[in-house]
Amino acid sequence: MTTVLITGATAGIGAAFARKLAADGHDLVLVARNEERLHEQATDLHDRHGVEVEVLPADLAEDKGIESVEARLRDGARPVHLLVNNAGFGNKGAYLEVSMADELRMLKVHCEAVLRLTSAAAEGMRERRRGAVVNVASVAAFTPRGTYGASKSWVVQFTQGVARDLAGTGVRLMALCPGFVRTEFHQRAGMGTDNVPGWLWLDADKVVAAALRDLAHGKTLSVPDPRYKALTGLMRLAPRGAVSRASSTTGRKYGPK
Ligand SMILES: NC(=O)c1ccc[n+]([C@@H]2O[C@H](COP(=O)([O-])OP(=O)(O)OC[C@H]3O[C@@H](n4cnc5c(N)ncnc54)[C@H](OP(=O)(O)O)[C@@H]3O)[C@@H](O)[C@H]2O)c1
Repeated sequence: MTTVLITGATAGIGAAFARKLAADGHDLVLVARNEERLHEQATDLHDRHGVEVEVLPADLAEDKGIESVEARLRDGARPVHLLVNNAGFGNKGAYLEVSMADELRMLKVHCEAVLRLTSAAAEGMRERRRGAVVNVASVAAFTPRGTYGASKSWVVQFTQGVARDLAGTGVRLMALCPGFVRTEFHQRAGMGTDNVPGWLWLDADKVVAAALRDLAHGKTLSVPDPRYKALTGLMRLAPRGAVSRASSTTGRKYGPK
């Protein structure tokens, strides 16, 4: 039996990871801020699949929240075999429309929490010579797009760099870069999505299935779906200015504040 800790487990991509991994027989530790939602999800997954599900309410934009998840990951008596750093969000607005506090909150959740939780998990995994970390980035990592894209770019560079550093230790790392996925993300960020063509939308369960296949194949970067594999290939070849223009107009329409 293996245990998986998922951050941002109550909605969207994180909830899809929880469903799939519980169905595959893994015990879970679910992290998010909304405690009531965590308990409902834990009961549902336990009843459906008979796995053990712990809840760990934590705000990863706060040191206290990060520390409590680090402590759980370092608990050698209850080892975590797979960590999915998935919690994340979008801010409402482009650069200078967003407060500095919100920009810093994003860096705390997308970068500092990912760094600290990866390290807390990887130390024990290296001792046990077994384990994996999936860090959820985005295809936005490949486009110049403010703090969000920059933070996800950091996630990709960090994850692939550490994967190389830990090669041969039994610890695997993979950055997951989905395109547009139907979740609560855009609504929470107050983003209008009617300018995103229907064919660009992905299903969270399919994204997770592709990610877990890529992890099993030892990839350090997963871009689910052939549409986005082709698009990210083009992004690498096209002039950066054109990529930046296309990216900042697609799916970035904010409603009134
Ligand atoms: N949806 C997309 O199109 C898309 C595309 C590429 C990448 N991504 C990335 O995928 C990841 C998951 O996004 P999603 O689309 O599934 O979003 P979502 O449906 O809004 O779910 C976000 C999850 O993160 C949790 N969360 C948010 N802030 C948190 C915090 N400060 N501390 C702890 N938990 C927090 C939320 O629960 P609580 O509110 O209860 O804390 C929720 O469980 C993010 O990293 C996002 O950047 C999304």
